[in-house]
Amino acid sequence: MLLIRFFGGKGGVGKTTLAAAFALASADRGARTLVVSTDPAHSLGDVLGTGLSDEPVPVAPRLWAAEISGEDQARRRVAEVAEDARHAVPREVLPAVERHLARAADSPGTVESALLDRLTELVGQVGTEWDGLVVDSAPTGHMLRLLTLPALLTPWIEGLARQREKVRGLDRMVAGMVGEAADDEPDPLLRRLHSRRERLERMRDRLLSRSRVHLVVVPERLPLAETVRAADTLTGSGLRLGAVLVNRVVPGDATGLLGRHLAGQSEVLALLDERFADSGVLRVPLLARTPQGTGELAAVADLLAPLVPES
Ligand SMILES: Nc1ncnc2c1ncn2[C@@H]1O[C@H](COP(=O)(O)OP(=O)(O)OP(=O)(O)O)[C@@H](O)[C@H]1O
Ligand SMILES: [Mg+2]
Repeated sequence: MLLIRFFGGKGGVGKTTLAAAFALASADRGARTLVVSTDPAHSLGDVLGTGLSDEPVPVAPRLWAAEISGEDQARRRVAEVAEDARHAVPREVLPAVERHLARAADSPGTVESALLDRLTELVGQVGTEWDGLVVDSAPTGHMLRLLTLPALLTPWIEGLARQREKVRGLDRMVAGMVGEAADDEPDPLLRRLHSRRERLERMRDRLLSRSRVHLVVVPERLPLAETVRAADTLTGSGLRLGAVLVNRVVPGDATGLLGRHLAGQSEVLALLDERFADSGVLRVPLLARTPQGTGELAAVADLLAPLVPES
């Protein structure tokens, strides 16, 4: 069962267009499909021809779409933890915890990890709310580190957990000194931290077993080396590649300027076919106009239909 598809590749190669078209193909063939963009400069809404936000909205029969933002998520997550802290932490240490949280909210890892958190939530809904999840962008740096690191806690969560353990250690010591039984109930903050880690672990398992990454590439010589490196990084992290999508392939009968591309293009196509023989290669032709809206995407969706698993 292949339930989660990532579409990655260099800037402007057609990731968003092909992710949207694939999602449409999958929905057409009966799967309740959610397509999400994690790119800070969202264009999924433009491609689908509709406004999108963090919450999935229906855009076609059995197709939903969302654009998720790391910044919004980070603010929301930090506010949640701060709220827990206000209830769970003794007043004396609250300022220290709040300072830590304020720093964490701005730290570069937090935004990406908050995005990952939201994605984890959505991955968690695959199998119940959705039959398939399509992600416009490949797992990148931070995500790959999280997938490969044995410790899945992000630094700010680790720092917070340490603070909590210290405070709880003191509580226990004081309780012991005055002869009271220590309160061993897990507090809401630690519970939240642990459930977050468990979610990440579940997502890692799901991702590794149930997802494929489709690399999108254009048939030109220069991006080829980078695509091969990206493929190695992804497979090195335990992810599996789906078919490589070669986009904007110039038709063989092209003449004039485009015709002159053909010799170079066929050389690159041959290299791609050879290097990615195992995962497969699918070609998408250069279109006369940029497809926009689910109606215009339907033709591209038909081309991608061979990638949709039989249900
Ligand atoms: N096969 C095609 N033929 C013609 N135009 C295409 C084709 N595929 C994509 N395009 C157009 O190319 C432009 C870039 O495509 P798209 O936004 O999908 O790329 P992207 O990889 O998501 O870009 P970014 O890296 O900026 O997110 C868009 O205007 C899109 O409509
Ligand atoms: Mg894009």
